[in-house]
Formats: sequence, structure tokens, C-alpha cells
Amino acid sequence: MDRTRLATATMLGKLIVATWLASIAQANELTQKQQEDAAFIEQLIGQMTLEEKAGQLTQLGMQNTPTGPVIDTKGRETIGISQAGSLIGVHGAENTRRLQREAVQGSRLHIPLLFSFDVIHGFRTIFPVPLAEASAWDPDLSQRTARAAAIEATASGLHWTFAPMVDIARDPRWGRVVEGAGEDPFLGAALATARVRGFSGEGPPATSTILSTAKHFVAYGAAEGGRDYNISDLSERTLEETYLTPFRAAVEAGVDTIMPGFNEVDSMPMHANQKLLRHKLREDWGFQGIVISDYTGIKELMAHGVASTPRDTARLALTATVDIDMVGGDYAAELPALVRSGQLPQNALDGAVRRVLQTKQRLGLFDDPYRYSDPVRETTQMSSPQTRALAREAAQKSIVLLKNKDALLPLPKNLRKLVVMGALANDAVSTLGAWSGNGRAEESITVLEGIKRAVSPSSEIVYIPAASPDSPDTPGIDVVQRAVVDADVIVAALGETADMSGEARSRTSLDLPGAQDALLRSLIKTGKPVVVILMNGRPLAVPTLDEHIPAIIEAWFLGSEMGNAVADVLFGDVNPSGRLPITFPRTVGQVPIYFSHKNTGRPTSQTDPYTLKYIDSLTTPLYPFGHGLSYTTFTYSAPRLSKQRLTFDETLNVQVDVHNSGQRAGEETVQLYLRQNVASITRPVRVLRGFAKVMLAPGESKTVSFLLGQDDWALLNHDLLRSVESGTFTVFVGGSSATDNQAKFEITNDAQLAGPGSAIPRTLRDSSLR
Ligand code: BGC
Repeated sequence: MDRTRLATATMLGKLIVATWLASIAQANELTQKQQEDAAFIEQLIGQMTLEEKAGQLTQLGMQNTPTGPVIDTKGRETIGISQAGSLIGVHGAENTRRLQREAVQGSRLHIPLLFSFDVIHGFRTIFPVPLAEASAWDPDLSQRTARAAAIEATASGLHWTFAPMVDIARDPRWGRVVEGAGEDPFLGAALATARVRGFSGEGPPATSTILSTAKHFVAYGAAEGGRDYNISDLSERTLEETYLTPFRAAVEAGVDTIMPGFNEVDSMPMHANQKLLRHKLREDWGFQGIVISDYTGIKELMAHGVASTPRDTARLALTATVDIDMVGGDYAAELPALVRSGQLPQNALDGAVRRVLQTKQRLGLFDDPYRYSDPVRETTQMSSPQTRALAREAAQKSIVLLKNKDALLPLPKNLRKLVVMGALANDAVSTLGAWSGNGRAEESITVLEGIKRAVSPSSEIVYIPAASPDSPDTPGIDVVQRAVVDADVIVAALGETADMSGEARSRTSLDLPGAQDALLRSLIKTGKPVVVILMNGRPLAVPTLDEHIPAIIEAWFLGSEMGNAVADVLFGDVNPSGRLPITFPRTVGQVPIYFSHKNTGRPTSQTDPYTLKYIDSLTTPLYPFGHGLSYTTFTYSAPRLSKQRLTFDETLNVQVDVHNSGQRAGEETVQLYLRQNVASITRPVRVLRGFAKVMLAPGESKTVSFLLGQDDWALLNHDLLRSVESGTFTVFVGGSSATDNQAKFEITNDAQLAGPGSAIPRTLRDSSLR
């Protein structure tokens, strides 16, 4: 290009930038600083070649153990680290500093990298797996654990985590049920909000802020047959009412990035889904952050059969506003040619690049690319005593007491002899659970270790692995009967190893795998008191256990402090307070089973065979959503309502007195469910619309109040318009989704409401969650 043409082009570029800036400055009343920042980004974009732009939209995989198929990426051939926009699978202050130097010094425009990693439930200190932590029903706790994870991860040089996973999951065969908050959108939205806030903390430019990602947009958890990566075939209503809700909450909470799922919805793979990404997420909800592909999700558009070449995949994904190609390489290889040939408009590419650069700018990386890579922080902020204490608190609160016949628990600490069984009791890797970041098995406390630490010095502990989840062998099962003859009690850890749940870990059975059933039967034969600690990443169908074992603790995978927390509950230092965030079926054949089902025209009846039922199983769950026992008991007054009749826009105050009628202090999770009895469309038998935790001393009573409003009783009518329909409602308040403690009220008028389909119920917007 000669000098005159170059000068004209530059002037033209500057003019466009100036006009663009003037228009947004006017529209948004930008501050001086914001205008300067915007000008900086526009000038940078103006200087970039198409290849450099495609590089910013490319994430290279760096880890030795990739989280998906290993492919020969074209991206790697096309660009090197210094040309890429971000890396996945690196951490370490020195390591990230070195890589950052390579990018900043080695690239023409000195653009810094973003470092990303899957920090799912802790970085070095591992907290309970998300499904476990959801059992605490405690947004404040989830916010604190996310904050602690962010502090450790950012101290290791990371800018970005691919969490929280906010997929609603109602099929426990799907292995990724472990990564989410369970089956309910209301609880899911509350925890999504909390975790996004926790990851962000003070927000940029604080270097303990980590970018969060709500994934996997959307309905990835509705995989047909529970088979990971399968299609999701669901109505627009179900999408709106159930699966989109936690994503919308995450967006409202300021989530930085969104990751589409590997699934398709209505025959359109999510990575090419303009309707949901471009129109719903960006235009309707106003999401302005980055959309990053899930791993090779862009490339996979060919296997889905909606693209025949990598060029098509890149065009489809970018048009759907997927900004970054993780690992696949199609963007790096194809975007420049697509723009040059006019198949992709330049502004589509620039829009994506702008979002990436703005994110780097928000983190302060243009001012100091190395600000997250601080070796001093890395040594001082990792695995601190406070973070370990938080891990123990979170683990204690995540434990659900499923059964406690004749108050077998808690156990005294001065037992003469206690026999511990099951390979899981001594499995340090499994205590951490799937996706355990940079956690270290040698720093985790197993159940066996926790018990040993808790009992009196005079107590004898005998450990017999006897059976493991991943082997049909029964080492030592023959000695069970002899070994327990003089035992006071047996504690058996049964369930799944950590790698039986997570990505690509679908199961057809929800039984105890391996030889554990044989162990269970032999335990029952001993006639001794048996306590089972369940370790698992999904609901298990364990009716035999429920029938014959007097005390069952659902401990999931609780992370670094698992053994201590289990012992705290076993021996009564902590009164368990967790509640199931997902229904436990009796048999896999009942799946999908969830509490907010429809009544149908023929609801289950014990006497009438022509009703909703199986001939070989009950229709009720083994343990319902919201279930969980305590070492004390709670009783409830009937709900008191501030009004019996109200207009659609009034608020309703629902109060209930909760009384601790037992001998110990304990925490109850008070749950409020709502049902519209008759409407123009069918409604679920109940939906969750509120929950509150209340600590009560023995004999103490407290009044718990819930405020309900129009968002709580709104529905999507048959045309999917948000409206309130007059009629009667039943409100249920109690300690699980099976509660029958109820009152009725009436809404007297109809109303059309403004706003998007999947409204977030008012109770979630309450200040307590902010
Ligand atoms: C998973 C994502 C994860 C990504 C990067 C994918 O296989 O589906 O949840 O964030 O890998 O590790």
C-alpha cells in the first residue's frame, strides 16, 4: 500500500472509530476513562490483521491430560502460543508468567493471553462436588467456596474458570449430574447466582477475580437416555421454565462467559444455534460477554450433520456469536478466508474480537499482563488453614442423613471396637470427586482417616476393604463375619469411585457397582448395627440398603476435608442439615423422576389400577427432593397467610412457626412450594418458590416468613406469554417436597406481564441473596 492510500485508510479508520465512539458515548454517557478504554480497543482492532483477529478467537489446549478427544488441531499448525488469544489447562505463577512473556513479547501487537482451567469445586483445596454442595441449600456457603476457589486459582495465575455448571439434571444416569445443583431451577438459579458472585468477588481489576462461565447452554442435562452428548428433545415451555432459568440468573448476576453444550435443541446443535445464542442470550437477555465453544464443539458441527467442511463450522458458529473456538482450530484456520471471501461480515469477526479484548482490558492485562502471575501470592494463598476450615464446614453442611432408625446415630466416640469396611473408605482420590482441579489426593482426608482421628484413643479400629466399586472381587469378604463378632458397630463406605461420574460417565444402572452388593448382603447377615456412608456422584437406587440398614449417610464426594466432616457427623460433633437437591429413585426404571411433575388425568391411586403406576414398582421415590434428617426433630405450624384473596400484583406474606421438638440444637431447611390448582394450562403438582435455613436450640421456636409476588405465581400461557391467571393456589411449607402442611389462597384477577419467558421468581431477587 502506498503512503497516500495508507494515510487515507488510517484516517478513514480513525473517523469510523471516532464516529462509533461518539455514538456509544452519547448513548451510554461513558466516562472519560471508559471512552479512553474503548478508543484503545478500537485502535487495536483497527491495527489487527485477519489472522491476528482469528488468533484472539482461538484457545489452545496445553494440558497433558486433555478433557476431551485428542485431535490434531489445525489451530496448532496455524498459530503458535504467541498468536493465540487464550490457553486452557495451564496454571502456576511462573509457568503463566513465562507463557505470558512469550505472547506479549512474541506477538506484533503485544496482546496478553487469558489463562483458563476447569476450577469446578476448588483449585488446590477441594470443596464438595457441586451436587453435594447443593445439598446444603446455602447460597452464602456456595458464594464463599467459589470465592475461596477463585483466590487459590488466581494465585496460580489463572484468569478464567469454566464454572459454574448450571445444567438442570433429572436423569441420574447422566454422569454430569455431579457437576450441577440437581433437578430444580429455583434452587439451581439461587446457587448459580451465588457462585458467579463468589468467583467474581470484588470484581475486576482485583486480581482475585476469576472470570466465570455458565455452562452448558442449554439443556445439555436433558440428554436423551442419560447418554452424555446425546440430543435434548424438549418443548419450548420446558426449556423456558426449567433449563434456561439458572442461566438467566447467572447472566443477571454478571456471569462473564457462557459455554454452549455439546447437545442439540430442536434439531439445531447449540454451537450453531442462532435462535438461542444470538437471539435469546444476547438480544433478549442482553448478555455482552464472551461465548466460548465447549472444547471441539465447533468442529463437531460436521458430525452433527449441519456442516460439511471446517469452513462451514466456523461460519455457522461465529454467526451464532460463538466468540472463541476452544482447542478445535477451525476459527484459526478458516475465519480469515471467510471474511476475505465475503462469506462472513467483517463486523461479526470484530464483534467477537472486541469482546475478547475488552475482557482482557477489564482484567487490567493491557496495563500489566503479569498481574495475576505472582509467585509470592501463590505460596502464601494456597491451601491456607482458613480455606481448609471452609472446606470442612462446606463438607459438614453437604451431608444428608437419609435414614437413622432408632437413633443409631450419632455414635459414641468411646466405642470398644469399630469395623470400617469398603474400599471407598480408604480411597483418597475418590474423596475429592470428579473434576478436582489441582487438588491432591495426599492432602485429602479419607473416611477411614477421619474416623481414626475422631475416636477415643482406647477404641480399636479394624479396616477391611472387602469390596470395591470397580471390581467384582471380594477381598476379605469371607472374614467379615469373623471380624465383626466382637464389634460394637460397622461403618461401611459404599457407592461409586469418583471417576464413575463426570463427563462421559453415563451409567445404565443406578445400583451399587462391583462387588458391593455382595458386601452389603454379608453386612446385613452379621446382625450388627451397620452405618452406611454413601459416596457417589449421582442418586443411586438402593432399596435393599434402605430396607435393611438402620443408618444411612449420603456423603457424596466431599473434597479435601471429607473424612473429618463425615466423622463430625458420625460422632455427633455436627448435627447433619443437608437436604437432597435431587430425587432418589427406587429403581433406574423410574427415571426420569422429579418432584415438580404433572398431576395427569389419572394420578396414582392405590386402589385403581388404571392410574399412573408401574406393575412392578411404586411410583414414589426412595427419597424425595428436599429430604434429609437431623439428630433432632422439627415440627411446623400450619402456614399463616397475610391474605386469603389478593390481586395479581399484591404480595403475600407466608409465615410458619418451626419448633425444635428434640434434644439437640439443629438447623432446619424450611421449604416453600406452590401449586396453582386450576389454570388454562396444566401446572406441576408443586414448584419450589422459597427456602430458608433456621437454627434452633432444643425446645426453641422461630417464625419463618416468605414474601411471594407476581413472579412466583406467573405462568407461561399456551402462547408462552408471561401472565398471571386468577384462581386458587395451594402453598406448602415443610421439611421436604413431600410435605402436606398447606394453606390456600386466591388470586382474583388475570394479568399479562412484561418481560422474558423464564422469569426469575421474586424470592430469588431478595436482598438476602445479593
Ligand atoms: C467439558 C466442559 C469443560 C471443557 C474444558 C469439555 O469436555 O464439556 O465442561 O469446561 O471440556 O475442559
